[in-house]
Amino acid sequence: MKTNPRVAERQPLLTPRQIFAYLDRYVVGQDRAKRTVAIAAYNHLKRCHQPTPAGKRLIKKSNLLLLGPTGSGKTHIARTLAQCLEVPFTVADATEYTEAGYYGKDVEVMVGELLHRADQDVELAQRGIVFIDEIDKIARRSQGARTGAGTRDIGGEGVQQSLLKLLEGREVFAPQNVTQHWNKHDFVVIDTQDILFIAAGTFSDLKLTDGSKPVGFGASGGGTGTAAHSRRATEKELLDYGLLAEFLGRLPVRVELDPLSEDDLFLVMTAPPDAVVREYQALLKMDGVDLEITEGAMRLIAQHCIHRRTGARSLRTIVEGICHDIMFDAPERKGETITLDADFVAERLAHDATA
Ligand SMILES: Nc1ncnc2c1ncn2[C@@H]1O[C@H](COP(=O)(O)OP(=O)(O)OP(=O)(O)O)[C@@H](O)[C@H]1O
Ligand SMILES: [Mg+2]
Repeated sequence: MKTNPRVAERQPLLTPRQIFAYLDRYVVGQDRAKRTVAIAAYNHLKRCHQPTPAGKRLIKKSNLLLLGPTGSGKTHIARTLAQCLEVPFTVADATEYTEAGYYGKDVEVMVGELLHRADQDVELAQRGIVFIDEIDKIARRSQGARTGAGTRDIGGEGVQQSLLKLLEGREVFAPQNVTQHWNKHDFVVIDTQDILFIAAGTFSDLKLTDGSKPVGFGASGGGTGTAAHSRRATEKELLDYGLLAEFLGRLPVRVELDPLSEDDLFLVMTAPPDAVVREYQALLKMDGVDLEITEGAMRLIAQHCIHRRTGARSLRTIVEGICHDIMFDAPERKGETITLDADFVAERLAHDATA
């Protein structure tokens, strides 16, 4: 998928529909988020293609804020987008940064990492995408904690303050060679004006997901979706949560992701080209073993994830656990077809719960 971005530059722009279609192959559900991200990315590309500064000023950069429960696909969407766009892309974890001058990374390192992804090509980096994860973890600490001595909020409010200049687009001194310990004191000027920032967080305290339980839990074999949806977070809630008004103002496009339903999780396991069940089938195929997992077994796994509220996040671990013994024995079971059914999975899950 990776071609030279310089070549991509001369190709016609991807349309929102094409970007959506690409995301759709890998990301299950979340249609609204996929559409919003596709439009934002398209505008980003258009803006980058403006030959004149005047044209660039006209098309404003619209940084995004993704909100949604754990394992709903926030990071997954952003990573998939980067593959699709072929622009440099980096994921930063907001919790690793501190206000400048304190122990921890300065926010300019995010841009330094982007530069690294762009092979130190400044011009290319200036059109890249920075994904800032765990943004809810840098909310301002409660007022009470701030009254005590020595409680300067260097990891929360301080980081938000430092990020303001990156988000709005300024020239910053980014460290070159972020990956080299012996040579990280060279700096280069990078204009963040055209860099697209996508911030994401779970904001779990906001209770953005309605409490509706999955309907038809395990009943009638198929089509047992859930009705759980996310509601929109209000500006006031986000302010109360501890995000600064200036910070929020620089993330104007907001989209909520829904918790994945049982049907969604079933698809996550089987449908995308890199789905976990396909992966294990391919692995075992190399030993001459055909692996089959019944639909009932997979639905049980999906229900387990919903119950534990981990979304798609724990699917891989569960499937790995279930296939553990088979992986060990596979080379001696050449030519066999191994079928995992609901009873087998139920037993394994019960075993894990007591272990
Ligand atoms: N909508 C989805 N479609 C397909 N796969 C998904 C989806 N959501 C999650 N996954 C799978 O689950 C894994 C974890 O998801 P991801 O890292 O995107 O969660 P997240 O929303 O960022 O959660 P967290 O808030 O915990 O970081 C992904 O690597 C991906 O394989
Ligand atoms: Mg994530």
